[in-house]
Amino acid sequence: MKQIVIYKSRTGFTKKYAKWLAQSLNCECIPQEDVGGERLSDYDVIIFGSSFRAGNVEELKWYKETILPFEKTNVLFVTGAMPPSSADAVKSIEQQLGKGEDREVKVFYLQSGLNYEAMNLGDKLMMKVFCKMMKSRKAHSEEEKALFEQMQKSFDVCEKANLEPMLNYIQGL
Ligand SMILES: Cc1cc2nc3c(=O)[nH]c(=O)nc-3n(C[C@H](O)[C@H](O)[C@H](O)COP(=O)(O)O)c2cc1C
Repeated sequence: MKQIVIYKSRTGFTKKYAKWLAQSLNCECIPQEDVGGERLSDYDVIIFGSSFRAGNVEELKWYKETILPFEKTNVLFVTGAMPPSSADAVKSIEQQLGKGEDREVKVFYLQSGLNYEAMNLGDKLMMKVFCKMMKSRKAHSEEEKALFEQMQKSFDVCEKANLEPMLNYIQGL
């Protein structure tokens, strides 16, 4: 099976996971911005890595319009700052993919972190507003408090081991 990993990354986390994945699969890995000239019909499995941004999956419209029409085996992974247990992330990604997609997409969520140093000014401001809003809400659990504390600064919880379920799935195809 010929595989390719395509990723969209602003602050580096999705790129890091994409590179690790491609290394394990021994396949090509390219940024979304370079997809134009690629002949995607040559591949059997197309893996796209994206991230959460204010609850939305980055470049999902592009993914649906550009990648899904190739009718390949599709795998989508999305990175985010939230712990995998907290937000029911996979369900949210599947909902955003939407009904009416007749081609199946296997979805994975990978916790990554936040990289304030690599964010642009607009994103830094957005995160500041988000953290303030969260802080002002009452009745947090200890877990939530720890999470909001963590989200005020950069952190990186990317681990190669988080890729295992996705690797097992792809290698089992
Ligand atoms: C403006 C902004 C909004 C974000 N929104 C979410 C979110 O809704 N859920 C989440 O889990 N992470 C969120 N994050 C964290 C990113 O999804 C996370 O850092 C991701 O791995 C970034 O990927 P990249 O480094 O490849 O660009 C947000 C980050 C920024 C800067």
